[in-house]
Amino acid sequence: MSKTVFITGATGYIGGQVLYELLSSPIDFKINALVRTQAKADLLVKRTNGKVNPVLGNLDDLSIIKEQVSASDIVINTANVDHVPSAEILADALIAKQSETILIHTSGTSVIGDAVTEKNSASTKVYSDIYNIDEINSLPLEQPHRPVDKIVLEIEEKNPKTKVAIVSPSNIVGVSNGYDNTISIQIPFLIRNSIKNKKTWSVYSGDYIWSHIHIKDLGEIYALILNGFLEKKDIPHGRNGYYFGSYGGLKDEKVTTKPSEIEHTWRSVSDRVAELLYEKKIVPTKEVAELNYEEIVQLTGDEFGPKYIGTNSRSRGDNAVKIGFKPKYSSIEDYWKRVEEDVEYVLKE
Ligand SMILES: NC(=O)c1ccc[n+]([C@@H]2O[C@H](COP(=O)([O-])OP(=O)(O)OC[C@H]3O[C@@H](n4cnc5c(N)ncnc54)[C@H](OP(=O)(O)O)[C@@H]3O)[C@@H](O)[C@H]2O)c1
Repeated sequence: MSKTVFITGATGYIGGQVLYELLSSPIDFKINALVRTQAKADLLVKRTNGKVNPVLGNLDDLSIIKEQVSASDIVINTANVDHVPSAEILADALIAKQSETILIHTSGTSVIGDAVTEKNSASTKVYSDIYNIDEINSLPLEQPHRPVDKIVLEIEEKNPKTKVAIVSPSNIVGVSNGYDNTISIQIPFLIRNSIKNKKTWSVYSGDYIWSHIHIKDLGEIYALILNGFLEKKDIPHGRNGYYFGSYGGLKDEKVTTKPSEIEHTWRSVSDRVAELLYEKKIVPTKEVAELNYEEIVQLTGDEFGPKYIGTNSRSRGDNAVKIGFKPKYSSIEDYWKRVEEDVEYVLKE
């Protein structure tokens, strides 16, 4: 029997990859996608050969969210992950539902990020989505993404007929198989604002460690979770269903202040972007400017700007490995190729 999917953010980077996974599945999903404008609706219909039914609206149209969630077997959220009112109405609708529903919500590993300060440096704190799950489930509400995570993680306890998973991506890289925006946030943000600044920059020293993942590997994690739920496999769900979108399964890992082969420092990204932009004669120097919090907010016009590349966030996606995730793009060489690709992509914009 065909399953009805309601997806938000389908014209976006993550949502586009997730939509690609849905359309590549042997299962004949009936897909309803929330889109903000008629132009985006037309574009999505055209690029998917009419396989997606656009639903015109946005996350503030709470009656549309409620109606779609109530009528769907599967809900996948990849639009603004900090939108509390839509998360609240989503939770209300799911808690009230009598039929079985699958919810896959998106978050982000800024949720485990530390403070942006001049004194900060590379941390040895690593979070596994299996071994540190209690800590993740009790993160303070002040952490980015945590208010919505908390709402979503309480749904299953209130209605066990809904199976809930959160995918929390680390730094995503690579061009996606999506249908509109196919490029990520963090590194393109650095590149665009380095061009604007006429010099590549870091947040203070930039010596902070993050995990990363290729967008196509991330898409596979969504597909594995969805298939696991549909096949009624005993996969982590509810409060245990927190899936970092990062590589995991490292055996006997010895954590130091140096990044492992599935991580990078933001300083090394700034250094590489500086080299690439200098080689292309876009900036006059290979030097990286160490900017402070206020300078970055001013340069980028984004209050969240310093947090994109100014914290430590070392995550281990052990749950994905547990459900059979086999990454295809996890080598560090691949990561640096994707940084080059981002520079090329931004320069063509
Ligand atoms: N990219 C990353 O590395 C990363 C990592 C972790 C978490 N995240 C989070 O995941 C979310 C999606 O990221 P992304 O990289 O896929 O971003 P994106 O490419 O900008 O896509 C966002 C999508 O959500 C839609 N959208 C945004 N606000 C909406 C609203 N109020 N109502 C309806 N639709 C709305 C956009 O529609 P339009 O096409 O109309 O703009 C687009 O389809 C963001 O909240 C982001 O912070 C991203």
